Amino acid sequence: NTIEEFRRQLLTWYDENGRANLPWRLNHEPYRVLVSEIMLQQTQVDTVLPYYERFMIAFPTVQDLAHAPETQVLKLWEGLGYYSRARNLQKAAKFVADDLYGNWPESSDDLQELAGVGPYTAAAIASISFNEVVPAVDGNAFRVFSRLLKIDDDIAQAKTRKIFYDAILPIVDPQRPGDFNQAIMDLGSSYMTAKNPDSEHSPVQAFNAAYRDGVELLYPVKTKKPK
Ligand code: ADE
Repeated sequence: NTIEEFRRQLLTWYDENGRANLPWRLNHEPYRVLVSEIMLQQTQVDTVLPYYERFMIAFPTVQDLAHAPETQVLKLWEGLGYYSRARNLQKAAKFVADDLYGNWPESSDDLQELAGVGPYTAAAIASISFNEVVPAVDGNAFRVFSRLLKIDDDIAQAKTRKIFYDAILPIVDPQRPGDFNQAIMDLGSSYMTAKNPDSEHSPVQAFNAAYRDGVELLYPVKTKKPK
């Protein structure tokens, strides 16, 4: 079975080479995963790490973040940019801590009620913290799966997201959905990068249809949005 073999190759590589020690991978508490995913939205892992550690020391729980002065939150965000992320993060913390009495929404649908949390971030948290079998579809997933499956749909079109979601859903590992999604992120930042992929040595080389056909740099298909 190809899908089972793909999962096995991917997760074996993840377990051996994946960055299993990233702080948000050692502890799956939803608050910690939310903060990591918001920081990682526009920022690279290496840049995020020291910010993440400082943030967790300053605000160890969702209640601490909810009740902190906004100036302190923004101060800890200084240098990360996109400050609306920090404001939304605190708004989300207040919603969980105060309105929901600390009871986290657990499904990817319900998690989208949090400020700043779209379909991708909700799916990441639901799969990592609550084991929901749901694909986290971001730019990495577009790139990785467009190549593996030779999906020709234009990722600049909003409707394409659902095409990818539907294609990836049956592939997500039902036992380890959070690890599966994070393994795809790692694949997208190592062997399956945009410009310098090294598919020859990739743990899932055998499943890469675009590489097999010598056309991986044509994926993902993206038209320029008309102005
Ligand atoms: N980028 C977005 N989310 C990530 C995660 N959980 N691990 C590594 N990189 C990421």
